[in-house]
Amino acid sequence: MDPTGLSRSHGKPLFKQVYDYIWNRIQRAEWTEHDKLPSVRVLAEELNVNRLTVFKAYQQLKDEKKIYVKDKSGYYVHPGISMPFDDLDYPIVSSYVQKSHLSEIHRVPAAYQFSYALIDPYLMPNRYFSEYVKEIFDLYPTVLSTYSTIQGDEELRESLALFFTNKHRLHLSQDDILITSGSQQAIDLLARMLVQPMDTVLLERPTYSAAIDIFRQQGAQIIPVDIHPYGYDLEQVELYMKQYKPRLFYLNPTFHNPTGYVVPTEQRKQLVELAERYHCFLVEDDPFREIYFDQKPPPPLFAYSTEGYVVYIRSFSKYVAPGLRIAAVCCRPSLMKHLFTVKSLADNGTPLLNQKMFLHYFKSKRLQQHIMKLQTALNIRKSIMEKELSRTNWTWDSPTGGLNLWVQLPDSIAMDMLLAKSLEQSISFVPGTICDPSKEATSWIRLSYSYINEQKLSTGMKMLIDLAEQLL
Ligand SMILES: Cc1ncc(COP(=O)(O)O)c(C=O)c1O
Repeated sequence: MDPTGLSRSHGKPLFKQVYDYIWNRIQRAEWTEHDKLPSVRVLAEELNVNRLTVFKAYQQLKDEKKIYVKDKSGYYVHPGISMPFDDLDYPIVSSYVQKSHLSEIHRVPAAYQFSYALIDPYLMPNRYFSEYVKEIFDLYPTVLSTYSTIQGDEELRESLALFFTNKHRLHLSQDDILITSGSQQAIDLLARMLVQPMDTVLLERPTYSAAIDIFRQQGAQIIPVDIHPYGYDLEQVELYMKQYKPRLFYLNPTFHNPTGYVVPTEQRKQLVELAERYHCFLVEDDPFREIYFDQKPPPPLFAYSTEGYVVYIRSFSKYVAPGLRIAAVCCRPSLMKHLFTVKSLADNGTPLLNQKMFLHYFKSKRLQQHIMKLQTALNIRKSIMEKELSRTNWTWDSPTGGLNLWVQLPDSIAMDMLLAKSLEQSISFVPGTICDPSKEATSWIRLSYSYINEQKLSTGMKMLIDLAEQLL
């Protein structure tokens, strides 16, 4: 099966994609021997394809003796072809489980950690939180003895609505906000809510790698949209919206992960117009907004939305407390009622203690001081990384915010080899291919400058550059 996902533009014929879909489910033992398969009509409706397409896929499976037909009764799984339950490559799962590429890299411990797009824990307000825990229990004695509401703590949503309205002119009420356990959960919930198998989804190329995995898990056909220092080619975006009628475009337009690019204001307005014209949701992921080194970034796309096609995800993981897992999803009531349902199915609400801890820091004056200190510290780390890189012929666009450099190495360096050799020396980075829905960014890597201190950063970069030079 095409590992880049299913695409009407670059992929296999549609009937072959339906074939893969059925065959994958059989291999994962979701349908086992002699099970009746969905009728041609039902599957065609489910996958939003023509009945003939499904028929053709079933015919091929039949010819290959993977399924059989009983007259007038339908198609059945042939005996002896499902994978054995204890086959390690095919764990017992009741639904399609997509590999999580980023977490596999993070699983390997590394002293020179350039793969975490996370801020150094020693730069975070640890002492403040530890002093504050007792106060939270005094203020809310039953905070651990109750659930949060599914939509999230009312006091927190009220504060966030005020903040978004005053700071970004988003004009929101607390009812338009739902609290999730990080933006990762928000992306997952929105994928479940908006995307059915075979729906088309636009993703930036490159993009946040976990988002690719999430939309693939949902069975989406992914169409990549290149992101450049100046933003997107909007003519291409319009063409894709017209041609493929995507359900959504997931984007990270402000200090984009992994490139650090910022989509300019004018494009933001035009994108919202396109989304409204072609009824395509824009899922705007905005976790790095406060991490800027120069000037404030342009307003979120959500600020230009009038018809409700923009869903705004704002995580506070990156600069307040990743451990609290607090993010907000902002959308209009017609979507909120469905989001509410998927959130309740996922976990019935984000832990109340985490929300209250976050709220009191969020409302305090310390937050602004903390952000200013972070901006300075991260800018210094970025400069150190760039200084080390300046002795190579590698190329990158210096970002004005965010946590990463997106760096192109000479084509002749085998990236798998560089990663393996680096991990041996306790250095980790993110290979570009896992940020690319079509896996073509073979000469690119993402280097995060935010996680390790200045001295380690400099040593680790020297080691990485030396290793790469040995592979030339
Ligand atoms: C663009 C983007 N979205 C979402 C996330 C996940 O963040 P959270 O900790 O809020 O789940 C990350 C984390 O790196 C990210 O870079």
